[in-house]
Amino acid sequence: MEDLIKRIVKLSQLEKRDFIDTFFDQGDDAISRLLGTLKRWDDEERGAFIKALPQDYGAWVAGQLEKAAPADDRTKKSVERTMATALRTVPARIRKIERGMTAVNKAVLANRRLLRSGFATLDNVISDQQRGKPRPPVQKPHPKNGIVVDLPKPDKSVVRKGDLYDLIDQRRSRRKFTDRPLSLAELSYLLWATQGVRKLSDDRRMSMRTVPSAGSMHPFETYVAVNSVDGVKPGLYRYQAADHTLAFLRQVKGQQDAVAAANFGQKFVGHCAATFFWTAVPYKTEWRYVTESAKLILLDAGHVCQNFYLACESIGCGTCAIGAYDQDKVDRLLRVDGTDELVVYIAPVGKVGQPA
Ligand SMILES: Cc1cc2nc3c(=O)[nH]c(=O)nc-3n(C[C@H](O)[C@H](O)[C@H](O)COP(=O)(O)O)c2cc1C
Repeated sequence: MEDLIKRIVKLSQLEKRDFIDTFFDQGDDAISRLLGTLKRWDDEERGAFIKALPQDYGAWVAGQLEKAAPADDRTKKSVERTMATALRTVPARIRKIERGMTAVNKAVLANRRLLRSGFATLDNVISDQQRGKPRPPVQKPHPKNGIVVDLPKPDKSVVRKGDLYDLIDQRRSRRKFTDRPLSLAELSYLLWATQGVRKLSDDRRMSMRTVPSAGSMHPFETYVAVNSVDGVKPGLYRYQAADHTLAFLRQVKGQQDAVAAANFGQKFVGHCAATFFWTAVPYKTEWRYVTESAKLILLDAGHVCQNFYLACESIGCGTCAIGAYDQDKVDRLLRVDGTDELVVYIAPVGKVGQPA
């Protein structure tokens, strides 16, 4: 152990972070295995290990140790093996990343262009709208299986807290939920609050909704992984906004864990009453705004999720915006192709606090 700790002490700050992230990136289980192992070490070893960690991690680990249960022999051995492997691989990994940093810094600057408004350049662009191509439809067609959950008409009966000042003041990102299910009326309300259609053109290609959207293009589809909603079979659904129904897509094996895994092990994202995924169908915005679309779509997404936060808060539910997800995994989970449709935002929802 002494040798292990000496080698950790010798790592650079950057390497130390990468080393400890071996455990932190793996989620709660890996962290509790690490804590349990530290609990088995003697005081001196444990103190030296914590001191060697970057300050923020060291303080967190020290704070959690009291609650941790000592690991069994097998877990301890496995954690120590992981540490030894990380000590071998981390410096090489960091060296490799450092070599690519010039390109990374260039990419950071290139990405800043996305933040700029390019509306002035649209004069030199011909959009599909200008060419007279048809406006994309407001929603994807219903899946062939035809299984649909009719949603109750959204109304105020589910609202427990309606004062806007209080909602804004008390909004928080919430990551702990009770096991209580949502009612179908509550789910209906959340879908309405985020993507509900207020007006629809006769050809179903133009909608006005409860959220703003550049050019009212509303480039999103909403997918819901339902785990615990009264009267709704668990599984993956898509909100058919124009009809205010939920179309059943499929059942996902081990859905809660699969969703958490696609979100880098953030357990609460999957283990909740339902997880909302907003995909963008970029062409809906590109049809009019061409090169401006990526920025506009992301701005639109912010409005959707903010309404979600406030609507959750108003019905005794909690949510947390999720940007740290694995793009390929979530796109695969929803069976979208990642180009013509891709996930841009995720948010779990669950009941918080006491029942009304
Ligand atoms: C775009 C965006 C992405 C976020 N991604 C995550 C995430 O992946 N995981 C997480 O736990 N919190 C995530 N959050 C929540 C923030 O950590 C949270 O908003 C912040 O700490 C402020 O806390 P508050 O929302 O309670 O005011 C995200 C928030 C936003 C707006």
